[in-house]
Amino acid sequence: MVKMGIIGTGRIVDRVMTDMCNAERIELTAIASRSAERAKAAAEKYGIPRAYGSYEELAEDPDVELVYIATPHSCHMENAILMMEHGKHVLCEKAMAVNDAEVRAMISCARKNGVFLMEAMWTRFMPAMKKARDMAEKGLFRDIRHVCGNFSYPGKYDESDRVYAKETAGGALLDLGVYTLMGITGFLGWKPEKVTGYAVKAPNGVDMRMSVQMIYPSGATAQFFCGMDAEADQRMTVYGQDGYLEIPDFWHPVKLILHRPGGKTETFDFQPENEGHHYEFDHAAECIEKGMTESPLVPLEESLAVSGISTRLRREAGILYPMDL
Ligand SMILES: NC(=O)c1ccc[n+]([C@@H]2O[C@H](COP(=O)([O-])OP(=O)(O)OC[C@H]3O[C@@H](n4cnc5c(N)ncnc54)[C@H](OP(=O)(O)O)[C@@H]3O)[C@@H](O)[C@H]2O)c1
Repeated sequence: MVKMGIIGTGRIVDRVMTDMCNAERIELTAIASRSAERAKAAAEKYGIPRAYGSYEELAEDPDVELVYIATPHSCHMENAILMMEHGKHVLCEKAMAVNDAEVRAMISCARKNGVFLMEAMWTRFMPAMKKARDMAEKGLFRDIRHVCGNFSYPGKYDESDRVYAKETAGGALLDLGVYTLMGITGFLGWKPEKVTGYAVKAPNGVDMRMSVQMIYPSGATAQFFCGMDAEADQRMTVYGQDGYLEIPDFWHPVKLILHRPGGKTETFDFQPENEGHHYEFDHAAECIEKGMTESPLVPLEESLAVSGISTRLRREAGILYPMDL
């Protein structure tokens, strides 16, 4: 069992907690908040033994081996570096950081301290997504020619919410688009030849919606849209020369539909185990137990490349956050 601490007491912590009970390799040891009251309340609510009123105190706890960073994007680099400088392994919520310069700094810190670092792209660890990538690798639909995906929901615009606020590096791309982008890089790799995007901005200047086109040296193409002002089917489709694969609810998939030429279809169903966050926690713990400093399923080079793509897309659209300046 790897002893894990959590920093932050927001929505994602509440969301992953049920799955946490299904994790086999994690022992929840401590939770930290910027407020002692919130830490105590969260520790009581989730049955976590230790509560700290500052992130520094958790960093000083010698029993905590792995820290799950569940704070806004704008805090990830600073929080991760604090933990890694104290010798802790880090599982950092997506988006890994605000821009690629920050991700680079996090990676150097992990390497300097010899600790494990991974972006918590939990979709990658869902059995359905593993199967989809395996099918693609085995050439089940021959060469992939196109991937398209969308992730959007109509939200309630509120500049004080970290999802929209510039100060916390909100916006559709960093909050939702990273899932679609990493969905695409999971099938086509993270070295596209060209990426072009169009952004529609919210009143405070963050991206409310973004539409993106990509082309790879192989000739494969991809497109996605992410948004906080439109209903969408949250689907990813992988088009190959010999068929196409539909992945409904691709960011937490439990079903795959393979379409063959001539209209034949094959459906693969996967047992939903609550939302499935436990797979990523168990994977991180397994890597740590094996002495690995990064995950083969979400490599640091990929997190850096994806952050580089999103940083360029934002810059080209004139969407800059305080941390970019
Ligand atoms: N919500 C989701 O469904 C979801 C899903 C997947 C991933 N994520 C990712 O998880 C991370 C956290 O998202 P969330 O939705 O949980 O955010 P949230 O509800 O706003 O909570 C963030 C927590 O971070 C702490 N924090 C530290 N510095 C902060 C600051 N300057 N402003 C606001 N909060 C600050 C706060 O806890 P204390 O004050 O108690 O320390 C706060 O409760 C993000 O990277 C997000 O992309 C969220």
